[in-house]
Amino acid sequence: MSKKRTNIAFDQQWSGKIVFGAGKLDCLPDEAKTICQRIFFVTTPQLSSLGLTERVSRILKSDNLLVGCFEDVEPNPTCHQADELSAQVRQAQANCILAVGGGSAIDIAKVAAVGATHKGRIWDYMTYTGANPQPICPDAVLPIIAVPTTAGTGSEVSMGAIIDNPELGMKGPLLSRYIIPKLALIDPELTYTLPAKVTAASGFDAMTHGIEAFLNVERQNYASDMFALEAVRLVADNLPRVMANPNDCLARERLCWAAYAGGMSIAIGNAGPAHAMAMPAGARLHLSHGLLLSRIQPVVLAHSWEAQPQRCAVLAEAAGAASGKKSERDKARGFAPWLREFVQQIGLADEWELPALDEATFSTLANDVFEYMARPIRQHRPVFTRSQIRGMFEESFADEE
Ligand SMILES: [Fe+2]
Repeated sequence: MSKKRTNIAFDQQWSGKIVFGAGKLDCLPDEAKTICQRIFFVTTPQLSSLGLTERVSRILKSDNLLVGCFEDVEPNPTCHQADELSAQVRQAQANCILAVGGGSAIDIAKVAAVGATHKGRIWDYMTYTGANPQPICPDAVLPIIAVPTTAGTGSEVSMGAIIDNPELGMKGPLLSRYIIPKLALIDPELTYTLPAKVTAASGFDAMTHGIEAFLNVERQNYASDMFALEAVRLVADNLPRVMANPNDCLARERLCWAAYAGGMSIAIGNAGPAHAMAMPAGARLHLSHGLLLSRIQPVVLAHSWEAQPQRCAVLAEAAGAASGKKSERDKARGFAPWLREFVQQIGLADEWELPALDEATFSTLANDVFEYMARPIRQHRPVFTRSQIRGMFEESFADEE
């Protein structure tokens, strides 16, 4: 037997505890009590109109667990809002933060879990490429409980949180294993009332996590591959079902699991060029993350499949985009056009209001990618140059006939 080592090796702490299933929100107090006694509740204004804020507050109060509440999380939360939230959490002497909402609520809670217990401004702890972050004291970070109400970001299980810095016109990730939620309570019932636009955008985000983790040549491994393919397969199969019938509870449940799987795939592996491009575009243009990805990811794939035909063919098969009879190259080549059609099928293309971007903006966006999102570019094949990234921005924003 050959003693040559293979090139795959990884450490993985997996995620915190997962409690998954329709109706599981009712388990929140009992689960929370195993972690903490003084909960600060973070959520978005939209959830109060659905009665969810009131419901969560009520079940926490009945066990005397609630010590504070912040209901005003913005769609793309800023570092200033995170500093404000951190101060409130500190003042309430909370020993846990509960986030109920989509990626914005969960991300700002993860950041505030550091901000509430560390000195200075939260932006100084961000870990974007080129930053010189302040160190995080692992024991000080407050435990986080995440209850996602969308099926997409995977933030409930990942070690990342994204925050806007409006002054710098950039988004910064905080990447740390210490902000992985201690508990992710995933109750598919909470997604039953999601608007179509949010369902499509967040579902596409989950699929992109899988695609990018699977194509990340430096970080891919057996575990990230497993989760990545599961996310792609489940979104391809179930997102069109939910768009056709929003009351398809089984398909909704499977999308929740796809979001978890996609989150795990980038938590273990990493994202790729589409996220590296969507981050600055989101920060500069204030457009939805999932919508941006729906434009950018097919373009990136069209320029990537030749460098990774085998992996792109496997992705195409997982998505149901290619039959067994085709050659590997044909399967790989067909994946980007299939994905474009998928975006049309789930109605995401209709939601897009294209801003008119000038030459200078394309250059700025390409520069931003290399300024602070260079790592996922390096970990992808081909390794795109600045002018290629700029060209892909132009293609992504080109009007389609
Ligand atoms: Fe994402």
